[in-house]
Amino acid sequence: SGGVVDAKNLRVKLVLLGDSGVGKSCIVLRFVRGQFDPTSKVTIGASFLSQTIALQDSTTVKFEIWDTAGQERYAALAPLYYRGAAVAVIVYDITSPETFTKAQYWVKELQKHGSPDIVMALVANKADLHEKREVPTQDGIDYAEKNGMFFIETSAKTADNINQLFEEIGKRLP
Ligand code: GTP
Ligand code: MG
Repeated sequence: SGGVVDAKNLRVKLVLLGDSGVGKSCIVLRFVRGQFDPTSKVTIGASFLSQTIALQDSTTVKFEIWDTAGQERYAALAPLYYRGAAVAVIVYDITSPETFTKAQYWVKELQKHGSPDIVMALVANKADLHEKREVPTQDGIDYAEKNGMFFIETSAKTADNINQLFEEIGKRLP
């Protein structure tokens, strides 16, 4: 009684989009199971996993995660997964400029066809491969800023910034 703030429990539909091989499934596996699979198989269609986190203000957020298939043959399925999503996580690989271009395509697609109040994160993955970097950090920052997105560099391999990615999304939920 008196002065106790009710904890909020949020349930959030989140979709991951991005080119095949950028590490979407590895990001999810790292976040949900704390593991990394160097022999990760390409996703067929999509896969579903959920994970709950607690924010600092005692809000809990249950992420219902749709991990889509990045191969071109599955592109037509994407609307099934991003429709109604509160959060879109768009991933590219810092060693591959083509995947950065593809990420921009997904941003435009979501601006046209996603929920109007969608929270979008731009994720530059494989940050551990800095010797092979071909997409400067600043390019990601600039693009994200222009498009009102949250930007973060991650490594599913080393776990760098993976939990932070989901915590930052949690803080940005309406
Ligand atoms: P699709 O399912 O085809 O869309 O691909 P995906 O985006 O889910 O890629 P996936 O997670 O399967 O990872 C592809 C490859 O990248 C695998 O060989 C992973 O081991 C590797 N990989 C993923 N994340 C990282 C990372 O942060 N660093 C490094 N070095 N390799 C990574
Ligand atoms: Mg996958």
